[in-house]
Amino acid sequence: MRDAAPETVYLKDYKPFGYVVDSVHLTFDLAPHATRVTSRIAFSPNPETTDRTFFLHGEKLKLIRATIDGAEIAPQVTPEGLTATAPDAPFVWEAEVEIDPAGNTALEGLYMSNGMYCTQCEAEGFRKITYYPDRPDVMSTFTVRINGDLPVLLSNGNPKGQGAGWAEWHDPWPKPAYLFALVAGDLVATEDTFTTVSGQPVALKLWVRPGDEHKTAFGMEALKKSMKWDEDSYGREYDLKVFNIVAVDDFNMGAMENKGLNIFNSSCVLASPDTSTDMNFERIEAIIAHEYFHNWTGDRITCRDWFQLCLKEGLTVFRDSQFTADMRSAPVKRIHDVIDLRTRQFPEDNGPLSHPVRPESFQEINNFYTATVYEKGAEVIGMLKRLVGDAAYAEALDLYFARHDGQACTIEDWLKVFEDVTGRDLTQFKRWYSQSGTPRVKVTEDWAEGTYTLNFEQTTLPTPGQPEKLPQVLPIAVGLIGPNGDELQETTVLEMTEAKQSFSFDGLPARPVPSILRGFSAPVILERESTNTERAFLLAHDTDPFNRWEAGRALAQDTLLQMATGAGEPDADYLDGLRSLMRDDTLDPAYRALMLGLPGQAELAGLLADRGITPDPMAIWQAVEHLRDAQAQALGPLLEELYEANQVTDPYRPDAEQSGKRALAGALLRLITRRDGGARASALYTAADNMTLALTALSCLLQAGQGEAELAAFYDRWKDDRLVIDKWFMLQIAEATPERAVSVAQALTEHPDFNWKNPNRFRALFGALTANHAGFHDATGAGYQLLADWLIRLDPLNPQTTARMCTAFQTWKRYDPARQAKIAVELDRIAATPDLSRDTSEMISRIRGA
Ligand code: BES
Ligand code: ZN
Repeated sequence: MRDAAPETVYLKDYKPFGYVVDSVHLTFDLAPHATRVTSRIAFSPNPETTDRTFFLHGEKLKLIRATIDGAEIAPQVTPEGLTATAPDAPFVWEAEVEIDPAGNTALEGLYMSNGMYCTQCEAEGFRKITYYPDRPDVMSTFTVRINGDLPVLLSNGNPKGQGAGWAEWHDPWPKPAYLFALVAGDLVATEDTFTTVSGQPVALKLWVRPGDEHKTAFGMEALKKSMKWDEDSYGREYDLKVFNIVAVDDFNMGAMENKGLNIFNSSCVLASPDTSTDMNFERIEAIIAHEYFHNWTGDRITCRDWFQLCLKEGLTVFRDSQFTADMRSAPVKRIHDVIDLRTRQFPEDNGPLSHPVRPESFQEINNFYTATVYEKGAEVIGMLKRLVGDAAYAEALDLYFARHDGQACTIEDWLKVFEDVTGRDLTQFKRWYSQSGTPRVKVTEDWAEGTYTLNFEQTTLPTPGQPEKLPQVLPIAVGLIGPNGDELQETTVLEMTEAKQSFSFDGLPARPVPSILRGFSAPVILERESTNTERAFLLAHDTDPFNRWEAGRALAQDTLLQMATGAGEPDADYLDGLRSLMRDDTLDPAYRALMLGLPGQAELAGLLADRGITPDPMAIWQAVEHLRDAQAQALGPLLEELYEANQVTDPYRPDAEQSGKRALAGALLRLITRRDGGARASALYTAADNMTLALTALSCLLQAGQGEAELAAFYDRWKDDRLVIDKWFMLQIAEATPERAVSVAQALTEHPDFNWKNPNRFRALFGALTANHAGFHDATGAGYQLLADWLIRLDPLNPQTTARMCTAFQTWKRYDPARQAKIAVELDRIAATPDLSRDTSEMISRIRGA
């Protein structure tokens, strides 16, 4: 049976379920193609409603029998679930179903990966395990028995008992079904313990397949740091006797916060210096923290319905960002987050997929785990915190946990705790949750007799379903800098609420240079006429590290946009400013590495389109190449000098200090390679004793048109390590010139290791292709065609991953008519595929704008 016909679900239609679930008992008799799931569920009438419709979700289940209070019933079964007549009184439901984990390629529900059983239930996967009210506002305790001939049998909560071929688990914390998990396999654990602030011991276990044990140490340390941080920063203690983490190779997402049993994509937890880069380590630390933090923001307090997804995801992303800022460098983390926001969220919010942080309708909820819900959702919390202040934020969070523990909540509940703590009216602020699109803020200035005035005007362009926009509350952090470089006004937060609003500063000795939107205090697009001189001044003097970086970024961006439209040469102010920053040893190497960075090519394309200019991907690529050459030229001998000065001599550690040095040295090596043709990169490849350096060297070599032998040796050395081979696939496409990218990708699809049913491998190849901007947008349309061919192939097996990859087409309207026509052909070809999944058909029709 295929997926159900697309039907739209609306926030405004929310109704509570007619029954509450008092307890759930599940028994699993595991068999690859015929697992039996027996459920015993105690229901009682929900006092909140009088509607006793008894509908249980269920998909791809073979119903063996169903009883109510012991009497066999014959429910009405459809592809989406079953309906039965149920008493208006407490009763016990029992059912037995059969499912096929080994045949489950969608990786939702119970499935198999390398001989191991595992589950993924968020958002609506539990209904593929048994009949159940599969909605987050139905919460219950779960008791689980697993019968299976495998050494390790895990589920949520605390262990209750185990013997040969069986194990029992009990989770005392009421939870929605999406947090259910089961794992069974031949696994080995790395073990540790954590003692909570109140003295409770917690057994920590990180489970992997035999052979991966050497990649668990870092993840375990990250877990302990996360547990401690949540106690120290949010007063949140862990609440079970065990915390299990399992690594699986086949996983659609990064990781999942199932209560007491987090399941991770192996790429997001396994790490060793030999096989993982500094960036991998940083991401793993953040994801472990993220999933752990969900224990409170997600599990103890969950979402009433999936429209409220940002309630747990936006907040938890905000929390994991705070954690990373504390563990590493706060300014560097902020810059990374803003780059990420501009790369992934801005295009989404300014294109056909634009939707509010709290969407109002969907066809397939899996399509709404987006950069908007996550990253903009986290930005909204950052703004709230800035507006109310740190102390009130902490108080509001305490109230949130106290008031809503054990509940399934809404954004209204969330905002109410802030209103109650501060006495503020957040009605207008709430527009951040309902209005889509990125606000644009125009700034002009006036200066007269010691008074400096900043005039702001905000507008948001129309987005799908929202032609008219209202002004939003914008916290605009501003500082003023005097002509001699001294700060005249330290950071102050201007609270803009009107469409147009001015703010004055008086008693100033001289006309200042403004530093606006410090720390990127609101997720907006700032539009302000500025001169290169002024930007170079801020690049030299701004006391706000974010805006200092931003000044350099703006210089680079302007010069690139001019170069990409055929006018101009690399800007001298930019190159001069860059040179002095690079020389400044007081600046963190990680920060200097970011200073060497340039806006991405897709971002530049978006900026051109914004200015009414049709972007030419090849011209953008050439502009970037040219500016890179100019950087190399301008920095000259300083490159080698700094490269030497930033070598790490201590044994490898993936911490902020060492990885900052390697990031800077790596960025320098890329420039050096433009001058020495790859001599130093080649030496580094030979000497490299960790994956970060090896990949840096290899990518420099490929970029210089060399590295064939090294690439082959790399493959040979790592052919048995899936995660490293993913990198091998990615790298070749990432470093291919635009002319070669599609053919390199195409050739790799024929490689025997292109195991396309594995989401990591599929994403390694096609993620790299779509990230190679000029390559993917090759004028022949070959990139579009190759991607579409494979999306069509993957869709029947794995709709979720297919639908996510469709976002590569979301910016299609930016490009010239010829490219648009070619993309339209591919979108229509995908749309016309028989039996296309609900996931992919929703994405394609929204992108196509039918
Ligand atoms: N709850 C999600 C995982 C999830 C997402 C399950 C969508 C099912 C559908 C988890 O907490 C999460 O957000 N994971 C992120 C990583 C995180 C660091 C932002 C992911 O998987 O990408
Ligand atoms: Zn999450």
